[in-house]
Amino acid sequence: MKIPPVKGTRDFYPPQMAVRNYISDGWKSVSLRNGFVEYDGPIFEYLQMYQIKSGDEIVEQLFHLTDRGGRELAIRPEITPTLARMINQQINALPRPIKWFSVPRLCRAERPQKGRLREFFQWNIDIVGVDDILADAEVVFCTLDYLRSVGLTAADVIAKISSRKLLAALLLHLGIAEDKLDALYPILDKKAKLPPETFAQMLTEAVSSETAVHTILALLETHSVGDIQSVVPNVTSNSQAQAALDELHQLFDYLKAMGVADYCRFDMSIVRGLAYYAGMVFEVHDAVGDLRAVCGGGRYDNLLRDFGGPALSATGMGMGDCVLEILLRERGLINEAMFKRQMDYFVACADLNLMPKVLEIVAQLRAAGKATEFSCKAANLGKQLKQADACGAKQTLIIGQEYLNEGKILLKDMKTGTQQPIDESYLWDTLSD
Ligand code: HAM
Repeated sequence: MKIPPVKGTRDFYPPQMAVRNYISDGWKSVSLRNGFVEYDGPIFEYLQMYQIKSGDEIVEQLFHLTDRGGRELAIRPEITPTLARMINQQINALPRPIKWFSVPRLCRAERPQKGRLREFFQWNIDIVGVDDILADAEVVFCTLDYLRSVGLTAADVIAKISSRKLLAALLLHLGIAEDKLDALYPILDKKAKLPPETFAQMLTEAVSSETAVHTILALLETHSVGDIQSVVPNVTSNSQAQAALDELHQLFDYLKAMGVADYCRFDMSIVRGLAYYAGMVFEVHDAVGDLRAVCGGGRYDNLLRDFGGPALSATGMGMGDCVLEILLRERGLINEAMFKRQMDYFVACADLNLMPKVLEIVAQLRAAGKATEFSCKAANLGKQLKQADACGAKQTLIIGQEYLNEGKILLKDMKTGTQQPIDESYLWDTLSD
């Protein structure tokens, strides 16, 4: 019986693994150059951890299990709750500022679709303990620093930035009750994912006033303070809204100073689905707008406190590997040639009796740090040279009796095809240079 892979999962054969490593190596090196340090946590946690503050959508998508001791567990659908738990656990011992990154494997029982799977990898960067909007600028910059490093320009991706603080102030201003806000955010977040009529109907069910529905729909279309003022004329007299707008101005000024303003745009329709965001929120989307979000994040100042810790502010971002890979392929920024194997040497055996000598040379080259391959299977020289080519060897050493009798090895340069006998001692001398 042939067993297929589970729906929404991927098998990483060597070519796919090369792409995955290219993506995660880039995430890691950009994190490090932006001053983040790496952490990780367990692949499963207590189910309750995600029920506290991640929101219904994540809870509905959990893979959960009961262990033999009757404990209710869940495979992590995100790492932010783990980060909050870990920081709370060692709050007094951790050096500040806390700038952490991680590339966890996550599972969500989503309906598999383009860019959304049931198992994926997600780059996370988070800054904990800094309530200044500077930390948010740092998170957005680091995100764009990575996207820029892989060749995505402002014509390819847009960082859409908004503020839950601003949205909350505006909703309260429109007369929405404060205790209704948390339930409203996940609905507003669905705007781009649903047909307009379905979205409008969901909104009408959540907000009874028709005028409020119309104003909210108009607000979600706004891209500037001027736009907001035309929807809510007296917005500047609302001190909460004004404070949130001032903060956003500051954020855009910092992003301009960091040279990434051309990637960034204010967009009220960015709400974020997760329940814990309470300040700046952002998502990066492809400029064409065909794909789901490349990444998303924001400020979540209450999460550590909600997890039984101190009131410590935090801001961060998560980027999955799926939409990113689709986008990089669509823009021609990854291609097979980038992932061609490369070995320093291939050692070919012209006579099976010489295999011990071949092994000795292979082992010495490897010990000297050279990537070295040979054929484990008896094959004629022609086949071995093909194998040398296939594994991307720069040079092939051919071990044959006539040359060995004179203390020599035949060296073939795989790029030019030229070959010349060299003294064996010369090989070791050049290696130790
Ligand atoms: P999120 O919006 O749930 O946020 O996910 C962030 C990103 O993870 C998405 O934009 C997408 O790239 C990727 N992603 C999410 N679900 C899937 C899926 N089923 N398949 C493939 N990729 C997916 C969070 O997870 C927050 N914890 C991020 C964060 C960190 N906020 C602050 N710090």
